[in-house]
Amino acid sequence: MIQVSRIPFERLNPDSQIVFFTGAGISAESGLATFRDPDGHWAKHDPMQLASRAGFQQDQELVLSWYAQRRKNALRADPNDAHRTITRFQKLFPHSVVITQNVDGLHARAGNQRILELHGNLHRTKCFLCHRPLALPDGAQSVICSCGGAGRPDVVWFGETLDPSLLSEAMEYSRNCDLFFSIGTSNQIFPAGELPYLARKAGAIVIEINPQATPFSPLADQSLREPAGVVLPALYKEFHEAFAA
Ligand code: OAD
Repeated sequence: MIQVSRIPFERLNPDSQIVFFTGAGISAESGLATFRDPDGHWAKHDPMQLASRAGFQQDQELVLSWYAQRRKNALRADPNDAHRTITRFQKLFPHSVVITQNVDGLHARAGNQRILELHGNLHRTKCFLCHRPLALPDGAQSVICSCGGAGRPDVVWFGETLDPSLLSEAMEYSRNCDLFFSIGTSNQIFPAGELPYLARKAGAIVIEINPQATPFSPLADQSLREPAGVVLPALYKEFHEAFAA
């Protein structure tokens, strides 16, 4: 049974702005690996080899085949109760946005609206040199741009900067929201990891949903230490009772 008694419902109303900030943990119950859990990607692979420009230049085939496998896994996976519950929350709170570090596309497939994909999207390809969007032919792992550059996944790699307008939009939402959920992220990667701190500093109610503690946990108004697919539906029930017309 989830304890929601510490959420100050009196500070919220159906016009409240809510941010759902998510990381790999929200897709764990869809069967997709996280990065920093004991069975996560970075426990098995060197992130600099698979997620950096230098790694790509060193061994394109290795990088492209790893992303092709992740794309396949993401397409085979279904959104879970956590993704789906966000769609229901967004009907109750029309001024709510999803800010995600995930590249798997599951938020959109669950029907979530107003999604900011800070780290890009696995299912898009762009040119390594001129960054132009490229179409990957069906079944192919690679494509060459008209400028001669190689196609690469349109995701943010280590050492690369986030899209500045997307980041400033995300910061703006975080500073102006009434309620900020930090869901399934270890909160160790910046600048995305800055967002819960911005929300906290601006006076939002910040609720963390993660079975494990994170560096941000001491600052959260409440940390719910259970899987997102369990916590979010239980929270939704409480919110629905409090706010449905
Ligand atoms: P991490 O792998 O660092 O963290 C995942 C978090 O999800 C952990 O804190 C887990 O405890 C938690 N978790 C696991 N199962 C969960 C569940 N069922 N419900 C809720 N939480 C659960 O993933 P991120 O924080 O997303 O960047 O990592 C941030 C970035 O680092 C990623 O976007 C990726 C990675 O390197 C790039 O590739 C640019």
